[in-house]
Amino acid sequence: MMFSDQFYNLISAKYQKIAKERSAYISTVNQVIIDHCSQGNVASWLDVGTGDGLRILSILSRTNSISRISVVEPSLKMLNVCKEHLRHLSHHVDYFNCSIEAFPATEEHDLITCLWNVIGHSSDPFIFLKSIRENMTINSLAIFDCNNSFNIRQYKLDAIRNMLKALLRPKELLSFKLSKCGYSTNVRILNPFQITSLLKRAGFSEWKLFYIDYTTGRPTSSCCGQMLVLAW
Ligand SMILES: C[S@@+](CC[C@H](N)C(=O)[O-])C[C@H]1O[C@@H](n2cnc3c(N)ncnc32)[C@H](O)[C@@H]1O
Repeated sequence: MMFSDQFYNLISAKYQKIAKERSAYISTVNQVIIDHCSQGNVASWLDVGTGDGLRILSILSRTNSISRISVVEPSLKMLNVCKEHLRHLSHHVDYFNCSIEAFPATEEHDLITCLWNVIGHSSDPFIFLKSIRENMTINSLAIFDCNNSFNIRQYKLDAIRNMLKALLRPKELLSFKLSKCGYSTNVRILNPFQITSLLKRAGFSEWKLFYIDYTTGRPTSSCCGQMLVLAW
Protein backbone atom coordinates (compact mmCIF):
# COMPACT_ATOMS: atom_id res chain seq x y z
CA MET A 1 0.00 0.00 0.00
CA MET A 2 1.39 3.43 -0.89
CA PHE A 3 0.74 7.12 -0.25
CA SER A 4 -1.72 8.84 -2.56
CA ASP A 5 0.88 11.00 -4.38
CA GLN A 6 3.04 7.93 -5.14
CA PHE A 7 -0.06 6.07 -6.34
CA TYR A 8 -1.10 8.89 -8.70
CA ASN A 9 2.47 9.30 -9.96
CA LEU A 10 2.39 5.65 -10.99
CA ILE A 11 -1.01 5.70 -12.68
CA SER A 12 -0.77 9.17 -14.29
CA ALA A 13 -0.25 7.79 -17.81
CA LYS A 14 -3.40 5.64 -17.53
CA TYR A 15 -5.55 8.19 -15.71
CA GLN A 16 -7.53 9.32 -18.75
CA LYS A 17 -8.64 5.74 -19.48
CA ILE A 18 -9.65 5.21 -15.82
CA ALA A 19 -11.72 8.42 -15.81
CA LYS A 20 -13.55 7.40 -19.00
CA GLU A 21 -15.06 4.43 -17.12
CA ARG A 22 -17.03 6.95 -15.02
CA SER A 23 -17.83 9.44 -17.77
CA ALA A 24 -21.62 9.59 -17.13
CA TYR A 25 -21.08 10.32 -13.45
CA ILE A 26 -18.29 12.83 -14.10
CA SER A 27 -20.30 14.74 -16.68
CA THR A 28 -23.26 15.12 -14.25
CA VAL A 29 -20.95 16.64 -11.63
CA ASN A 30 -19.31 18.86 -14.30
CA GLN A 31 -22.78 20.09 -15.29
CA VAL A 32 -23.50 21.18 -11.70
CA ILE A 33 -20.32 23.29 -11.78
CA ILE A 34 -21.15 24.72 -15.23
CA ASP A 35 -24.66 25.64 -14.03
CA HIS A 36 -23.21 27.42 -11.02
CA CYS A 37 -20.67 29.29 -13.18
CA SER A 38 -23.40 30.32 -15.62
CA GLN A 39 -24.86 32.52 -12.88
CA GLY A 40 -21.85 34.74 -13.66
CA ASN A 41 -20.32 35.10 -10.19
CA VAL A 42 -17.23 32.96 -10.69
CA ALA A 43 -14.08 34.76 -11.84
CA SER A 44 -11.51 32.82 -9.80
CA TRP A 45 -11.51 29.06 -9.40
CA LEU A 46 -9.38 26.94 -7.08
CA ASP A 47 -9.40 23.29 -8.13
CA VAL A 48 -8.03 20.97 -5.46
CA GLY A 49 -6.69 17.59 -6.59
CA THR A 50 -6.95 18.52 -10.26
CA GLY A 51 -5.52 15.30 -11.62
CA ASP A 52 -4.81 15.43 -15.36
CA GLY A 53 -6.62 18.75 -15.97
CA LEU A 54 -9.07 17.41 -18.56
CA ARG A 55 -12.07 18.29 -16.39
CA ILE A 56 -10.84 21.87 -16.19
CA LEU A 57 -10.73 21.99 -20.00
CA SER A 58 -14.18 20.46 -20.31
CA ILE A 59 -15.74 22.87 -17.78
CA LEU A 60 -14.00 25.94 -19.22
CA SER A 61 -15.21 25.08 -22.72
CA ARG A 62 -18.76 25.64 -21.46
CA THR A 63 -18.32 28.63 -19.15
CA ASN A 64 -17.05 32.13 -19.86
CA SER A 65 -16.89 34.03 -16.55
CA ILE A 66 -13.69 32.41 -15.21
CA SER A 67 -10.43 34.27 -15.77
CA ARG A 68 -8.12 32.89 -13.09
CA ILE A 69 -7.51 29.27 -12.04
CA SER A 70 -5.38 27.83 -9.25
CA VAL A 71 -4.48 24.17 -9.58
CA VAL A 72 -3.48 22.24 -6.43
CA GLU A 73 -2.11 18.77 -7.15
CA PRO A 74 0.30 16.83 -4.89
CA SER A 75 1.29 14.24 -7.49
CA LEU A 76 4.08 15.77 -9.61
CA LYS A 77 3.44 13.44 -12.53
CA MET A 78 -0.28 14.25 -12.56
CA LEU A 79 0.57 17.94 -12.36
CA ASN A 80 2.88 17.62 -15.37
CA VAL A 81 0.15 15.89 -17.39
CA CYS A 82 -2.22 18.66 -16.31
CA LYS A 83 0.19 21.41 -17.40
CA GLU A 84 0.52 19.75 -20.79
CA HIS A 85 -3.28 19.58 -21.20
CA LEU A 86 -3.77 23.21 -20.15
CA ARG A 87 -0.84 24.67 -22.09
CA HIS A 88 -3.02 26.42 -24.70
CA LEU A 89 -5.40 28.08 -22.22
CA SER A 90 -5.53 31.84 -22.40
CA HIS A 91 -6.67 32.01 -18.75
CA HIS A 92 -4.24 32.86 -15.98
CA VAL A 93 -3.29 29.52 -14.33
CA ASP A 94 -1.19 29.09 -11.16
CA TYR A 95 0.10 25.60 -10.43
CA PHE A 96 0.85 24.32 -6.92
CA ASN A 97 2.51 20.97 -6.39
CA CYS A 98 1.22 20.37 -2.87
CA SER A 99 -1.74 19.05 -0.92
CA ILE A 100 -4.55 21.43 0.09
CA GLU A 101 -3.40 21.01 3.69
CA ALA A 102 -0.04 22.62 2.70
CA PHE A 103 -1.54 25.24 0.37
CA PRO A 104 -1.10 28.86 1.53
CA ALA A 105 -4.49 30.56 1.89
CA THR A 106 -3.54 33.93 0.40
CA GLU A 107 -6.09 34.72 -2.30
CA GLU A 108 -9.83 34.82 -2.67
CA HIS A 109 -11.52 32.13 -4.70
CA ASP A 110 -15.12 32.39 -5.88
CA LEU A 111 -15.31 28.66 -6.47
CA ILE A 112 -13.39 25.81 -4.85
CA THR A 113 -13.77 22.31 -6.25
CA CYS A 114 -12.41 18.95 -5.07
CA LEU A 115 -13.69 16.53 -7.65
CA TRP A 116 -13.99 12.77 -7.54
CA ASN A 117 -13.25 11.81 -4.00
CA VAL A 118 -10.18 13.97 -3.45
CA ILE A 119 -11.23 14.21 0.21
CA GLY A 120 -11.02 10.41 0.51
CA HIS A 121 -7.28 10.61 -0.18
CA SER A 122 -6.70 12.88 2.76
CA SER A 123 -5.46 11.24 5.97
CA ASP A 124 -7.75 13.55 7.96
CA PRO A 125 -10.96 14.71 6.20
CA PHE A 126 -11.59 17.27 8.97
CA ILE A 127 -8.23 19.02 8.34
CA PHE A 128 -8.93 18.75 4.62
CA LEU A 129 -12.31 20.53 4.93
CA LYS A 130 -10.87 23.09 7.31
CA SER A 131 -8.17 23.90 4.73
CA ILE A 132 -10.88 24.34 2.09
CA ARG A 133 -12.87 26.59 4.42
CA GLU A 134 -9.80 28.75 5.12
CA ASN A 135 -9.55 29.50 1.39
CA MET A 136 -13.13 30.75 1.21
CA THR A 137 -14.62 34.19 1.60
CA ILE A 138 -18.22 35.20 2.20
CA ASN A 139 -19.10 34.80 -1.51
CA SER A 140 -17.24 31.54 -2.19
CA LEU A 141 -18.85 28.20 -2.90
CA ALA A 142 -17.19 24.81 -2.41
CA ILE A 143 -18.29 21.88 -4.56
CA PHE A 144 -16.98 18.39 -3.91
CA ASP A 145 -18.05 14.81 -4.40
CA CYS A 146 -17.02 11.67 -2.59
CA ASN A 147 -17.73 8.00 -2.13
CA ASN A 148 -20.61 7.15 0.18
CA SER A 149 -20.09 4.18 2.51
CA PHE A 150 -23.89 3.65 2.57
CA ASN A 151 -24.08 3.23 -1.22
CA ILE A 152 -25.73 -0.18 -1.63
CA ARG A 153 -25.42 -0.14 -5.44
CA GLN A 154 -21.69 0.31 -5.15
CA TYR A 155 -20.76 -1.64 -2.01
CA LYS A 156 -23.62 -4.19 -1.79
CA LEU A 157 -23.47 -6.11 1.51
CA ASP A 158 -20.56 -4.00 2.72
CA ALA A 159 -22.85 -0.96 2.65
CA ILE A 160 -25.18 -2.69 5.12
CA ARG A 161 -22.19 -3.58 7.31
CA ASN A 162 -21.08 0.07 7.09
CA MET A 163 -24.54 1.22 8.26
CA LEU A 164 -24.34 -1.11 11.27
CA LYS A 165 -20.83 0.11 12.07
CA ALA A 166 -22.10 3.71 11.84
CA LEU A 167 -24.83 2.89 14.37
CA LEU A 168 -22.35 1.36 16.81
CA ARG A 169 -19.41 3.73 16.27
CA PRO A 170 -20.67 6.85 14.41
CA LYS A 171 -17.34 8.69 14.46
CA GLU A 172 -15.15 5.86 13.18
CA LEU A 173 -13.76 6.62 9.71
CA LEU A 174 -13.74 3.62 7.40
CA SER A 175 -11.38 3.08 4.50
CA PHE A 176 -11.05 0.83 1.47
CA LYS A 177 -8.24 -0.32 -0.80
CA LEU A 178 -8.27 1.45 -4.17
CA SER A 179 -6.43 -0.63 -6.76
CA LYS A 180 -5.63 0.50 -10.30
CA CYS A 181 -3.07 -0.76 -12.82
CA GLY A 182 -1.55 -3.12 -10.23
CA TYR A 183 -1.02 -0.42 -7.58
CA SER A 184 -3.02 0.23 -4.40
CA THR A 185 -3.63 3.04 -1.96
CA ASN A 186 -5.81 3.39 1.10
CA VAL A 187 -8.84 5.67 0.69
CA ARG A 188 -11.18 7.01 3.39
CA ILE A 189 -14.87 6.54 2.92
CA LEU A 190 -17.49 8.65 4.69
CA ASN A 191 -21.24 8.50 5.16
CA PRO A 192 -23.75 11.39 4.89
CA PHE A 193 -23.88 11.90 8.69
CA GLN A 194 -20.11 12.11 8.93
CA ILE A 195 -19.87 14.60 6.03
CA THR A 196 -22.51 16.80 7.66
CA SER A 197 -20.79 16.71 11.02
CA LEU A 198 -17.35 17.44 9.49
CA LEU A 199 -18.72 20.40 7.49
CA LYS A 200 -20.18 21.85 10.67
CA ARG A 201 -16.92 21.38 12.63
CA ALA A 202 -14.84 22.82 9.77
CA GLY A 203 -16.82 26.07 9.94
CA PHE A 204 -19.23 25.83 7.00
CA SER A 205 -22.55 27.48 7.75
CA GLU A 206 -24.73 25.90 5.06
CA TRP A 207 -24.61 23.03 2.60
CA LYS A 208 -26.68 20.97 0.22
CA LEU A 209 -26.13 17.27 -0.19
CA PHE A 210 -27.10 15.38 -3.38
CA TYR A 211 -26.68 11.76 -4.40
CA ILE A 212 -25.59 10.70 -7.88
CA ASP A 213 -25.64 7.18 -9.28
CA TYR A 214 -22.01 6.21 -9.93
CA THR A 215 -22.86 4.29 -13.11
CA THR A 216 -25.59 6.31 -14.80
CA GLY A 217 -24.87 9.78 -13.43
CA ARG A 218 -28.57 10.20 -12.56
CA PRO A 219 -29.80 11.70 -9.27
CA THR A 220 -30.66 9.03 -6.74
CA SER A 221 -31.32 8.42 -3.03
CA SER A 222 -28.94 8.55 -0.05
CA CYS A 223 -28.26 4.79 -0.07
CA CYS A 224 -27.72 4.44 -3.80
CA GLY A 225 -25.23 7.04 -4.92
CA GLN A 226 -22.04 9.01 -4.46
CA MET A 227 -22.33 12.19 -2.38
CA LEU A 228 -22.18 15.59 -4.06
CA VAL A 229 -21.81 18.54 -1.68
CA LEU A 230 -22.32 22.26 -2.28
CA ALA A 231 -21.13 24.13 0.82
CA TRP A 232 -20.53 27.73 1.87
C1 LIG B 1 -9.53 10.56 -8.14
S1 LIG B 1 -8.35 11.79 -8.50
C2 LIG B 1 -9.40 13.10 -9.09
C3 LIG B 1 -8.72 13.98 -10.09
C4 LIG B 1 -9.61 15.04 -10.71
N1 LIG B 1 -10.16 15.94 -9.72
C5 LIG B 1 -10.71 14.42 -11.51
O1 LIG B 1 -11.87 14.58 -11.17
O2 LIG B 1 -10.40 13.76 -12.52
C6 LIG B 1 -7.86 12.42 -6.91
C7 LIG B 1 -6.75 13.49 -7.02
O3 LIG B 1 -6.61 14.13 -5.76
C8 LIG B 1 -5.23 14.36 -5.51
N2 LIG B 1 -5.06 14.48 -4.04
C9 LIG B 1 -4.93 13.49 -3.15
N3 LIG B 1 -4.81 13.98 -1.89
C10 LIG B 1 -4.89 15.33 -2.00
C11 LIG B 1 -4.82 16.41 -1.06
N4 LIG B 1 -4.66 16.17 0.25
N5 LIG B 1 -4.91 17.68 -1.52
C12 LIG B 1 -5.07 17.91 -2.83
N6 LIG B 1 -5.14 16.93 -3.78
C13 LIG B 1 -5.05 15.66 -3.37
C14 LIG B 1 -4.55 13.14 -6.14
O4 LIG B 1 -3.17 13.36 -6.39
C15 LIG B 1 -5.39 12.94 -7.40
O5 LIG B 1 -4.87 13.63 -8.50
